[in-house]
Amino acid sequence: MPMRTAADAVIRLEEIDDRAHSVDVERRAFEHSPSGDPANDIGAIVERVRDEDGSFALVAQEHGHILGHVQFSRGWVGETPVVTLGPVGVVPERQNRGIGSTLIRTGLDEARRRGEIAAIVLGDPRYYKRFGFETGSTLGLANPATGVTPSGFEILEEHFMVAPLAPGGADQLAGEVRWHPALG
Ligand SMILES: CC(C)(COP(=O)(O)OP(=O)(O)OC[C@H]1O[C@@H](n2cnc3c(N)ncnc32)[C@H](O)[C@@H]1OP(=O)(O)O)[C@@H](O)C(=O)NCCC(=O)NCCS
Repeated sequence: MPMRTAADAVIRLEEIDDRAHSVDVERRAFEHSPSGDPANDIGAIVERVRDEDGSFALVAQEHGHILGHVQFSRGWVGETPVVTLGPVGVVPERQNRGIGSTLIRTGLDEARRRGEIAAIVLGDPRYYKRFGFETGSTLGLANPATGVTPSGFEILEEHFMVAPLAPGGADQLAGEVRWHPALG
């Protein structure tokens, strides 16, 4: 059942038969992207988190082909469970047509429906602010993963962002973010 559409693509929950295509889409999306740590196998990250409690994913499908994917999984701020957004990817030839934004907005709606109080993400604030994310440090929250990774990829403090999904959701958070080990 479609949840939303973007361009000619239908956005819907991922099904088991989509999984291999989703991994392929993420690998293609990140192949030339400066946003990912080159040392990370983005497909392997998806495979490690997707069967965990709290995980779900959405796909964008156009004319029978999966061309976008967003993964959600369990994270924590202090001891409070939150939902982690990422990775998200759209195949290079279909980028900048609103598909990534619709995947994210629909996914955040689904997280809200599942009772999540807040979402966290590690990414570029210029992109994620439009979805209601604000920098974690402005809320007094810290990301211990900030710094330069062994491969030279720089994670800035401002890359850690939080979006409340329930009224007062961000007020319930205190302390440091804890990513799933596959993401942190
Ligand atoms: C990021 C991504 C999922 C966005 O999906 P999309 O369908 O191309 O994006 P949309 O059409 O919904 O939105 C386009 C906007 O996103 C911006 N954008 C795209 N990729 C971006 C990135 N990595 N960082 C910052 N902004 C980005 C575009 O500049 C454009 O901005 P504008 O609306 O101000 O002009 C997609 O470009 C992608 O797969 N990129 C490679 C993988 C990646 O970088 N994933 C995110 C890691 S943080």
